[in-house]
Amino acid sequence: MSSSSYIEYHGLLLPHISHSAESLEYAENFSVEDTDVFAVTYPKSGTVWMQEILPLVLNGGDLTPINTIVNWDRVPWLEETRLEKVVDQLASPRALVSHFTYNLMPPSFHTSKAKVIYVMRNPKDVLVSSYYFHQMTSFLEDPGTFDEFMEKFLYGRVLFGKWTDHIKSWKRAKLGDRILFITYEEMVQDLPASIKLMSDFLGSNLSEEVIQKVAEQCSFKTMKSNCMSNFSLVPKKYMDNKKSLFLRKGIVGDWKNHFNSEQLAWFTSVLLKELEGKNISLPWSL
Ligand code: A3P
Repeated sequence: MSSSSYIEYHGLLLPHISHSAESLEYAENFSVEDTDVFAVTYPKSGTVWMQEILPLVLNGGDLTPINTIVNWDRVPWLEETRLEKVVDQLASPRALVSHFTYNLMPPSFHTSKAKVIYVMRNPKDVLVSSYYFHQMTSFLEDPGTFDEFMEKFLYGRVLFGKWTDHIKSWKRAKLGDRILFITYEEMVQDLPASIKLMSDFLGSNLSEEVIQKVAEQCSFKTMKSNCMSNFSLVPKKYMDNKKSLFLRKGIVGDWKNHFNSEQLAWFTSVLLKELEGKNISLPWSL
């Protein structure tokens, strides 16, 4: 098995390093509780950011978990191998993250009242972030040139498949008031307001003062220096911080520094075609 091997699951590619047949079976049989909160994202849309924010919104701003527990154990991925190992230590209410499309959520999720915060990010910035992530990780395929990686992204030959399929699956889910859609861009623009939205959605009723404190702790700058969240504890043979940092730029619109006009036209036409007639409203133009 090469270090960059993948598992295929319902047609989606998942990295072997953190997923196994057992972890996926565990996720399928996972017993979701009514009080569980899931942050769901397509990769590179703000997952680790949510692993920082959610515990604080749920515990009233107590910084202990973000300073003492690594992000992947603090708010584990539903589909990854760590979940089974840490599930008994999770604080209540439990916070989890997932990159699953809606149809892959376990049966117990559908019968529960568990809530979901779905974070969307402009797919052009997702692509750029993912490109650098593939460069710094040894367990993912070398991305090749930006053009080559764009092709893979557009045709879903990347982690968790096509961006459009992910968005469509969650936008069509009939979850009513169990789901909050928020964008990475809103969070960058006004983090306190985004935290307030999440706090209201989860019934946390955080005070203005606590919201400000949470926003400061979850700022790009603070997270970048938190070894429990910046992946610096991952051995260099898996993630090489010299090639790129996990908390890389944390900005909106970096795609403008990477796309040429042909790539932009190509990217836009493929995505628009896939979303055509699907009645999916997006907060940005593609
Ligand atoms: P960039 O590579 O564009 O910097 P994920 O956690 O889903 O893999 O997403 C990673 C992206 O979220 C990276 O984007 C990372 O820098 C960004 N990110 C993480 N925490 C952030 C924060 N506090 N503020 C802004 N962006 C953040």
